[in-house]
Amino acid sequence: MPQSKKMSQTLNFPATVPDLFAESLHLCELTEADIPAWFARATDVESADLAGDSIPESIEMGAAWLQRHRDRFQQQTAIRWSILPKGATESAGTVGLIITSKEHRTAEFGIVVGRAYWGKGIGTAATQLVTRCGFEVLGLAEIRAEVLQRNAASLRLLEKAGFQRIREIPGDPESGGDADDCFEYALRVSLSG
Ligand SMILES: CC(C)(COP(=O)(O)OP(=O)(O)OC[C@H]1O[C@@H](n2cnc3c(N)ncnc32)[C@H](O)[C@@H]1OP(=O)(O)O)[C@@H](O)C(=O)NCCC(=O)NCCS
Repeated sequence: MPQSKKMSQTLNFPATVPDLFAESLHLCELTEADIPAWFARATDVESADLAGDSIPESIEMGAAWLQRHRDRFQQQTAIRWSILPKGATESAGTVGLIITSKEHRTAEFGIVVGRAYWGKGIGTAATQLVTRCGFEVLGLAEIRAEVLQRNAASLRLLEKAGFQRIREIPGDPESGGDADDCFEYALRVSLSG
């Protein structure tokens, strides 16, 4: 049976952040314990630039960061997980989905892995877990991602996870959005493994 036929036609937002397991890592709910590793990642200038995130001024902003994710989850507008590699004592990054349309069952994918963990397959494993959860648990029809054309690691990550490039978004320094050229990618339920 084609995968699309097995999928729900309504969005099923879970009551609690589901724990997701792969051989090499575990995805779990964000907690206060994630704040120090979040601050280290968020103040990595190159990483923040590639992810399009603003840089926090102090670790005290971590409480607001955590609350924002909790509020979005309660409002059923987003889920963000902490990435815990097997044997690690601190979070290696975060990954998540922002619901962009409940009616069309679409979401935007986002991920940040700490520099010390780059190139070890963590991003790929976390992406596969989250996209599978998005389709099979939430009942999404499509997941999109927007990425800077110069972000080679992220382009490769998305393509390995089965995302397909759907359009080019020219940079526009005047708009207040990305000044650099981006690509938009999509992963649709019938295309996911
Ligand atoms: C993008 C990011 C999440 C990738 O995470 P990761 O754990 O390093 O990813 P993986 O180890 O699974 O690698 C994914 C692929 O990218 C490749 N890759 C990693 N770094 C690369 C680089 N600098 N240039 C080209 N390819 C790269 C890997 O080799 C791998 O491909 P392969 O299996 O064919 O060898 C991570 O680099 C990151 O957080 N960057 C900063 C924030 C960011 O860009 N977020 C995404 C915004 S859209």
